[in-house]
Amino acid sequence: MLEVIDHVGVAVEDIEAALALYRDTFGMPLIHREKVTEQGVDAALLDVGAGHVELLQPLGPETAVGKFISRRGTGLHHVAYRVGDVQQTLERLASAGLRLIDEQPRIGIRGSRVAFLHPTSTGGVLTELVQPANGH
Ligand code: CO
Repeated sequence: MLEVIDHVGVAVEDIEAALALYRDTFGMPLIHREKVTEQGVDAALLDVGAGHVELLQPLGPETAVGKFISRRGTGLHHVAYRVGDVQQTLERLASAGLRLIDEQPRIGIRGSRVAFLHPTSTGGVLTELVQPANGH
């Protein structure tokens, strides 16, 4: 069950410049910064209402986000929906015929469990499922 939009992911070239816009000009509180080496990103999470904006600066041109930016430019990268049980949701969506990027959930920022669905089976929208860690 997809519950609410947890966050939108935005691919940026310069996370400090993006923070100047989202935190300082838009006024969204910055609640988390994390370098996720295995995903190749420097990430920042900001609060907006009950949801978040996730800024993603690639750690290099060969990372997934780095390739995304060189193909499509900076901008909207993915939409993430909160789920109660990411494993169960993945299994249900896989059996419904959706193509998965992650067959198994992996660890996202703030200790969440996340999995991505392939945009070829979601109308071109890179879609993430997020099961927050307890307390988030
Ligand atoms: Co995300």
